[in-house]
Amino acid sequence: MSEFHSKIKTIEWCEIPNGGYSRMVDQTKIPHSFEYVEIKTLEEMYNAIKTMIVRGAPAIGIAGAHGCALYALELSEKYKETNKETFLKELLNGFEYLNSSRPTAVNLSWAIEKQKEIVEESKNLPIEEICSSLIKNAAKLENEDIEINKKIGNFGAEVIPKGAGILTHCNAGALATVGYGTALGVVRSAFAKDNTIQVFADETRPRGQGAKITTFELVKDNIPVTLITDGMCSYFMRNKMIDVVVVGADRIAANGDTANKIGTSTVAIAAKYYNIPFYVAAPKSTIDLSIKSGNDIVIELRDEEEVTMVNGKRICAEGVKIINPSFDVTDNSLIAGIITEDGIFKPEELKEKLKI
Ligand code: MRU
Repeated sequence: MSEFHSKIKTIEWCEIPNGGYSRMVDQTKIPHSFEYVEIKTLEEMYNAIKTMIVRGAPAIGIAGAHGCALYALELSEKYKETNKETFLKELLNGFEYLNSSRPTAVNLSWAIEKQKEIVEESKNLPIEEICSSLIKNAAKLENEDIEINKKIGNFGAEVIPKGAGILTHCNAGALATVGYGTALGVVRSAFAKDNTIQVFADETRPRGQGAKITTFELVKDNIPVTLITDGMCSYFMRNKMIDVVVVGADRIAANGDTANKIGTSTVAIAAKYYNIPFYVAAPKSTIDLSIKSGNDIVIELRDEEEVTMVNGKRICAEGVKIINPSFDVTDNSLIAGIITEDGIFKPEELKEKLKI
């Protein structure tokens, strides 16, 4: 196995004397090229998240943590220890701005909250030390992410039948995280034990993360993958080629309702009809116990051109109406289990059993 996942880090903090910057894979270029970009300011990070240079809930979370550290460095240049109060005020305003870059993936606000805690703890220290505490914490969250994904992978591999056909939607792989992946972490761990499994990857319109990114990752790791279009899942289920579905998540409510890439709930409904288990693989940082159900999850609406244009060409009549929700909510009743770094939970067990 080529172990693509162990060779790349999707996002990484790079240290330089008196500071550092964030380096990330530009996911908008895959599969045509594999390039890194360097992000050095809060504004650049906001744009990288908004335009999906970095995407996938856990990777967005780490981008948020890096963005907070970058802004502290920017402001420390501006204030040079002269005005701590203004430094702190502007810093927290910058955190809020970054948090508004994408609304659905809770990992972004989770990571920014973690950085706010660091500011609170270190606010009486010199500005330089506040900066280094934020950098240290960003690096810690970054390193923990891969370990968490490997744990998710190992728990998840237990529910993958021998020789299974596994359907996944969107990309919840190494490139949606710092490395290894959540849903594809489960695939990687299962494949390490049984190389007769195979993956069916939904194309995932409108942005095509399944076609562009999931297949790219799996082909690199020599894991057999078949690309299907979004409307095909029922065909493959009916013909007994899918044994289990594993997807990632962007936000999971306290009752287990799960927001994930648009089209996920359609797959879950079809899986229920054909009696195929549907699993969600996600770190605890994706579970938002502060909201009761999926009705409280804010669904991001994106630009209509994601729907009307393909490769720079319009594919529909001018004047057509477009609504482009980026995520949907899968009802907890459709979910067989939520695979986390602490084990697999039934949706109704989250509130009582999960230690966050
Ligand atoms: O809009 P994206 O590409 O950031 O959305 C990501 C997803 O919805 C993925 O399906 C994923 O499961 C969540 S991240 C592991």
